[in-house]
Amino acid sequence: MDTLAEVARVVNGCTDCHLHAGRTNAVPGEGPDAAELLFIGEGPGFHEDRQGRPFVGPAGNFLEDLLQSIGMTREQVYIANMVKCRPPDNRDPVPSEISACSKYLDRQIELLNPLLIITLGRFSTARFIPGQSISRVRGRLRRVSGRHIFPIMHPAAGLRRQEMRVAIEEDFAKIPGLLDVLRIQSEPASEDHQIRETASSFEASPPEPTRSLWDMLGPPGQAHATPPSHDPVVDQPEEPNEPLPGQQRLF
Ligand code: URA
Ligand code: SF4
Repeated sequence: MDTLAEVARVVNGCTDCHLHAGRTNAVPGEGPDAAELLFIGEGPGFHEDRQGRPFVGPAGNFLEDLLQSIGMTREQVYIANMVKCRPPDNRDPVPSEISACSKYLDRQIELLNPLLIITLGRFSTARFIPGQSISRVRGRLRRVSGRHIFPIMHPAAGLRRQEMRVAIEEDFAKIPGLLDVLRIQSEPASEDHQIRETASSFEASPPEPTRSLWDMLGPPGQAHATPPSHDPVVDQPEEPNEPLPGQQRLF
């Protein structure tokens, strides 16, 4: 599978787990080959199975509203799922289905090489940050195996509960700032330039009530009083909830 289109072609013919038997259409995922942002959901629901496209039902409408709130559209991002075929009655995917399907998402990530991966909900979050609750890890950037991961609760949860909707909206609002920082970091600019640019976005401490970018990226209500003295993305603030080996807490 050498291109995203080729991954989609293989997924459309896949029979590697039981989910293939109940599908109308597989839902490989969609978006531009050069998307900077990859969203990973759980699996297709009723509407996605009918149309063969990810996030086209009510959760998809909410996702589009959220993208619009940060000045983006779904055409600019890549949207994929943990499993590519709809689990019957929208049940949760089981571990054997997730593991049968993971080769496709793995390849999509390699081919896309996104600047930032947004995991939507507990299943895609657990792929990168296993064994921790989404409510604990959401809204904080981590580096896991060289990838930048930003977990957010699933949009469907936001449709059910107002407090979750607020949390999702808050986390979405952090995305443009994260992209700015990650773009600077990935620029092949001189080290001097990088340090100056990065430092100026983090070290300015505007008077209240303006929140600095650094404050924005911290957990709600717990603004970081002291920005780190050097590379803000690699240095981690002290946190009780330690990342697992191989993971880095970034904000
Ligand atoms: N929920 C998901 O997790 N993925 C979809 O594609 C649609 C709804
Ligand atoms: Fe294949 Fe994934 Fe569909 Fe299972 S869910 S049949 S592994 S594409």
